[in-house]
Amino acid sequence: MCGIVGYVGRQKAATIMLEGLKRLEYRGYDSAGLAVLQDGGVTVVKSVGRVANLAKLSSGRRLSGVAGISHTRWATHGGVTDANAHPHISSDGQIVLVHNGVIENYVAIKKFLLTKGYAFASETDTEVLANLMAYHLAKEPAAAPAANGSAEAPARFLEAVRKTLLHVEGTYGIAVISPAHPGELVAARKGSPLILGVGEQEHLIASDVSALVSRTQNVVYLKDGELVHVTSAGFTLSTLDLADVSPVIDKVTWSVDDAELGDHPHYMLKEIFEQPQALENAMRGRFSADASTANFGGLNLTPADFRTIDRFVFTSCGTGWHACLVAEHLIERYARIPVEVDYASEFRYRNAPLDRDALFFVISQSGETIDTLAALREAKRKGYKCMAICNVVGSTIAREADGGIYQHAGPEIGVASTKAFTSQLLISAMFALYVARMRDMSFADGMEYVAGLKAVPELARRALEQAPRIKEIATRYAKFNDFLFLGRLDLFPIALEGALKLKEISYIHAEGYPAAEMKHGPIALISEQCPSVFFVPKGELFNKVVSSMQEIKARKGLIIAIAPESLELPEGLADEVIPIPDCHEAAAPILATIPVQLLSYYIALTRGCDVDKPRNLAKSVTVE
Ligand code: F6R
Repeated sequence: MCGIVGYVGRQKAATIMLEGLKRLEYRGYDSAGLAVLQDGGVTVVKSVGRVANLAKLSSGRRLSGVAGISHTRWATHGGVTDANAHPHISSDGQIVLVHNGVIENYVAIKKFLLTKGYAFASETDTEVLANLMAYHLAKEPAAAPAANGSAEAPARFLEAVRKTLLHVEGTYGIAVISPAHPGELVAARKGSPLILGVGEQEHLIASDVSALVSRTQNVVYLKDGELVHVTSAGFTLSTLDLADVSPVIDKVTWSVDDAELGDHPHYMLKEIFEQPQALENAMRGRFSADASTANFGGLNLTPADFRTIDRFVFTSCGTGWHACLVAEHLIERYARIPVEVDYASEFRYRNAPLDRDALFFVISQSGETIDTLAALREAKRKGYKCMAICNVVGSTIAREADGGIYQHAGPEIGVASTKAFTSQLLISAMFALYVARMRDMSFADGMEYVAGLKAVPELARRALEQAPRIKEIATRYAKFNDFLFLGRLDLFPIALEGALKLKEISYIHAEGYPAAEMKHGPIALISEQCPSVFFVPKGELFNKVVSSMQEIKARKGLIIAIAPESLELPEGLADEVIPIPDCHEAAAPILATIPVQLLSYYIALTRGCDVDKPRNLAKSVTVE
């Protein structure tokens, strides 16, 4: 939430930052702004609205400075107004700041600053930070700020930022500049991601690598409690208590093209169609030579360690939580090991009693979701080992986990998660196989399972071929304001996911329910105005689900059925049938997901919604 880009180098900072901000817009799009140091002062351009709007406003200004900071906002404190847009300037004009996070003790700090004569122009917690830094900067001994390159001036600026952060409670990723210190930038993080890009005679700061990968692939992932002082020539990394930190420079493995929209109208559609590739990537190199089980290099646990585990606890948020529910079903079914699933946002506060030999898993596409990170830390604090299934390499969760599995799905920019979700489902299926083969699953069943998973990318390609038909259905159903999504067992989480996708991008009220539970309440919603999307399973529950469909039909409810192509539904029962390829049972949730992603996408499109930037949402939720 909120995206930050900062630049210090030899090029025009505004141009580079605007390009970076466009790539970070998925993190928030309430307002955008930038500040550059030039002509001995600072020039700020900011406004409510999207980055495109900021670019338009900036094009009419002379922005030649080679150092600057910029921001795209997802509002927390204070409404969506020009005044609340970042950057914020201290009332003495000495500090310019962008911030991602929440300052919890801002009221007390503001009271103090008002007594010292500092004034406030916005309702944000961020402006409090800017003024507190200005207060500390004014108090710092070395009176005359020297020209760029002086040893004294950077220390003074850095010290003011550091002292401020010692008084702050809450979370932050910040980038700070000062007109008294041209050519310098200070950035720091606690709880909100921040990455330093190390380029040729230039350095960048960003909330996410996508904003800097067009300029450099060399990055340093800042850790909580670290500060970096940056000039075009170099950088120094330290902690809030002044310990020097030796930077580890990582190489980003993907290029800027991977995050480009290309010919697609939206990132969401692009990412839906990238699923076959993402699924292939999730499996690459992860099956044993005899093709009877999976291998994971990063779990850092031996088979003997796994034998002692008597329960898995999976936690996540949103779509990732739905993936946890599928993992629960698959692990319990194939490995016969109990699994508990918790909302990450509840886990920390619930103080749940835990088995002694439990192993924790968190699932997070971004690896930055604050609730999931807090759940991981809580599990570790209690002495449990915690694994992470993450897409973003080098993310905070990936780094803090004891081990894990990278998804390798490539950058996911669309706010509504699509390819990351199906990739999480596939990894869950592979993990279930891995532990099942350590317990009772036979070699032959393992081989059949592996063959079933290997077929999934091709089957996903075939499922995507239904897009034109789904588009046509969506155009007819877009007029309804309520939907039910109904499924059983491992398809129940897909019902939840279908409902979530539809809600978040089309603002239609939708509920996911276990199909058989429908008659215990939600059936009251059924009318000609509330269609039901049914996930029809093969096997023993087929007839039961058909009975639930009959109950809907008897009440004049419209039915869209998503069903394996080999199944024959009773004539006239479903108003629309979307066939999906037959597959191994462990892969059924993956193939059932694709049609509901497309259905939600096309319904939202028909209703004129901004699919990639749904209202009130942002990707990567770094506030609690
Ligand atoms: C919904 C969606 C969210 C995320 C959730 C967790 O489409 O994307 O529900 O799944 O915010 O995000 P990550 O996986 O990044 O931790």
